[in-house]
Amino acid sequence: MIIIVILNLKGGVAKTMTSINMAHILVSIYGKKVLLVDNDKQGNSSKFFHLHSYETPSIAELLTERKFDTHRAIQHTKYPKLDLISANMNLLNANLKIIMDVSRQQQTILKKALQQVENEYDYCIIDNAPDINISVINSLVAADDVIVPIKIDQFSFDGLDQLIEQFEEIKEFNPSLCFKGCLVTQFAKNEVNIQGEAHLNNQKYPMFSTHIRRTEKVDESTFSSEPIITYSPRCGAAKDYRNFVKEYLGE
Ligand SMILES: Nc1ncnc2c1ncn2[C@@H]1O[C@H](COP(=O)(O)OP(=O)(O)OP(=O)(O)O)[C@@H](O)[C@H]1O
Ligand SMILES: [Mg+2]
Repeated sequence: MIIIVILNLKGGVAKTMTSINMAHILVSIYGKKVLLVDNDKQGNSSKFFHLHSYETPSIAELLTERKFDTHRAIQHTKYPKLDLISANMNLLNANLKIIMDVSRQQQTILKKALQQVENEYDYCIIDNAPDINISVINSLVAADDVIVPIKIDQFSFDGLDQLIEQFEEIKEFNPSLCFKGCLVTQFAKNEVNIQGEAHLNNQKYPMFSTHIRRTEKVDESTFSSEPIITYSPRCGAAKDYRNFVKEYLGE
């Protein structure tokens, strides 16, 4: 099982849309089995699949209960090969609990939990909060690959250096962590976006050559809870997400 972490310290950059659509494309086009982990107390990925709840064990219980059986937190989506571990506001408290509990190693809980199911999935995609709290650090310690979605605006580069520094620091716990690249999302053909993308291309960061176009269909797709390639297969963002996954897979 390859673990892919989707992360940016900024909100609203399409972390959740990228996580959901990448997971769905790996399932529907490539026939892979995918576990999507919602690691954000907002629970947007969980809500998208109508699996947000306080009844079923979520990522919060997985991170805080001793000897937790990961299977207890796994829920099925309506897509047969796509499963989900949900998140809710309990993750806020869970983050505090992890930090307070000095009797266990705090950074490797998620890694160990995912090891229990590593033979059951081809990919695990972790949708993170716009933050660098202990549950986000757990995701980086568990990760093989990390992808940073970026929306180009006046503030898009804020925090990027700090985020990338974090990847270096995490290597103490996870030496094989691979920063796959930044993915420009919500791209519109205007000066700001064109210049912003050119600026990023000139930086030292790895970049995906595919960018995801801004399309109203993406917003609409969240209301109908359908991944973009089924909601509007011919729209720009659907084509771009397909190409992005192809580029990620090196095809
Ligand atoms: N390609 C796109 N075209 C148009 N709108 C988009 C696109 N991608 C994402 N959006 C919209 O941008 C908003 C933010 O997307 P999303 O929730 O995926 O961001 P996020 O980084 O997960 O945010 P948060 O930090 O709050 O978790 C949503 O309303 C979504 O519908
Ligand atoms: Mg999100």
